[in-house]
Amino acid sequence: MSVQCLFPESKKDIPLHQLYLGLNLHRQAMTGDVLIYSNYIASLDGRIALRHEQTGEFSVPDSIANKRDWRLYQELAAQADVMITSARYFRQLDKGCAQDLLPVGQEPDYADLAVWREEQGLKSQTDVVIVSASLDIPLYAVQSLTNRRVWVLTVQGADATRRNLLEDSGITVVQAGTGQVQGKALKDFLIEHGYRSAYMIAGPAIHHTLLAAGVLNRLFLTTHLSLLGHHEFHTILQGDMPASKVELNALYLDHSGEQIFGQYDIKGREI
Ligand SMILES: NC(=O)c1ccc[n+]([C@@H]2O[C@H](COP(=O)([O-])OP(=O)(O)OC[C@H]3O[C@@H](n4cnc5c(N)ncnc54)[C@H](OP(=O)(O)O)[C@@H]3O)[C@@H](O)[C@H]2O)c1
Repeated sequence: MSVQCLFPESKKDIPLHQLYLGLNLHRQAMTGDVLIYSNYIASLDGRIALRHEQTGEFSVPDSIANKRDWRLYQELAAQADVMITSARYFRQLDKGCAQDLLPVGQEPDYADLAVWREEQGLKSQTDVVIVSASLDIPLYAVQSLTNRRVWVLTVQGADATRRNLLEDSGITVVQAGTGQVQGKALKDFLIEHGYRSAYMIAGPAIHHTLLAAGVLNRLFLTTHLSLLGHHEFHTILQGDMPASKVELNALYLDHSGEQIFGQYDIKGREI
């Protein structure tokens, strides 16, 4: 279960377990700030999701999803105070077209992460921020999130009936933009509520919201060594924005031979 560090160059193999846990992402933000990070697995041709012909839904292809990458996903979740996701994720979950991404350390293989969170003084599960303009969020799917604070960040003039239904279920709905939730407003919200580490697990639209506002700090990107093609797909980012400079922090070749784990710092608009 090891990886080879390609950058910075090293001859020693490193265990996959704790590769990301050692980053202590929950302790990296300056006082009064929050560290926001994202994570994707993509094929070599950049696909993070393909449209399923039968269901019509986009999902991570089975041919690239794998347990070794999932271990790292869990390690990133373990270091988060809060996870940021999309309303579309809950709509897909409700239809049975998405994997439950939110619990940390629930399966036996990740039980060490639940213990680690406790040792670090973190809550057993992360809080959750859902970003949505439509407020089309199936209550049943959200109600599965027990023992944690759930927030919905939405826009000015969002549907009042849907808002009331969510609030009646104990979810706090907060306005954070006009037309679209703004990345800067999202970051300010996180800081205001004392969050120090936020793990963004949604797709290209919310990634764009954060990157265009210059509030994303780190990107973790697993490149699966396969080519998927396909006409209808998502990549890690969509939408217009100024080019953003990114710096390579670390690069690991997985000894399974099937993927490369990359860590990048987002430097912002320097191009
Ligand atoms: N391979 C990977 O590692 C990976 C990781 C993450 C996701 N994915 C895949 O990527 C696909 C898309 O993911 P996704 O739908 O979760 O993500 P997304 O494209 O980031 O989010 C789409 C939804 O989020 C809301 N939204 C996004 N930005 C907003 C803003 N600025 N203001 C208000 N609402 C905003 C909208 O909800 P409303 O429509 O409710 O307004 C929108 O429909 C999925 O198939 C997923 O499986 C793959």
